[in-house]
Amino acid sequence: MTLASVITIDGPSGAGKGTVCARLAAELGWHLLDSGALYRLTGLAAHKQGLSLANESAVAAVAATLPVRFEPTSDGVRVILSGDDVTREIRTEEVGSMASQVAALPAVRAALLQRQRDFQQAPGLIADGRDMGTVVFPNADVKIFLTASAEERGQRRYKQLIEKGFSASLPALIEDIRTRDERDSNRAVAPLKPAQDAYEIDSTSMSIEEVCQTVLRLVQKAGLI
Ligand code: C5P
Repeated sequence: MTLASVITIDGPSGAGKGTVCARLAAELGWHLLDSGALYRLTGLAAHKQGLSLANESAVAAVAATLPVRFEPTSDGVRVILSGDDVTREIRTEEVGSMASQVAALPAVRAALLQRQRDFQQAPGLIADGRDMGTVVFPNADVKIFLTASAEERGQRRYKQLIEKGFSASLPALIEDIRTRDERDSNRAVAPLKPAQDAYEIDSTSMSIEEVCQTVLRLVQKAGLI
């Protein structure tokens, strides 16, 4: 049986991966894997069970048996954990921090590996993450590494927070982004780095539309559409 095609989009947070992946999945009518959501759900579920996020074997057991459902809606995906709608909760900074703690544990990454690979189904998959092209789908048909400068990513995040009515400090956001980049790129297991055969796209001075068009041209060049 031949496996369905996969396009991987990796890169640091704030580079625009989430929006680009959602648009491409809608445009192509393909499945979408938001791998960050699985790490966020693992962190949240472990926290709700009162576990220490450093307890590797216990957190890995949570990851292996996550009672989660992804329900498509008209404007995205609803995420249900143990019967509770956690769609908004998993997007908070607090849960993001839980995600990055559990993501550093090798047993947790191993527990989530097959679960992520199970998303590879016809007619095709867009996989969004940090290690999609390097670890989870090393044989992907097209691999993209999407970046943007720390200043630009800080500006985007600042705008989002202000629009939602939160107060924020731009220099502090840029500093946070630099620290997180450093941690993600230097961790021992599945560090954030482009696959050798990835196309690198710097979105610093590109619109979402321009990034999507660039990716679609590469997908076309690879003969997938
Ligand atoms: O992409 P998102 O911000 O939802 O990811 C949350 C956290 O999960 C990241 O900061 C990263 O530490 C981790 N992650 C990962 N590998 C992935 C996706 C996310 O380590 N493939």
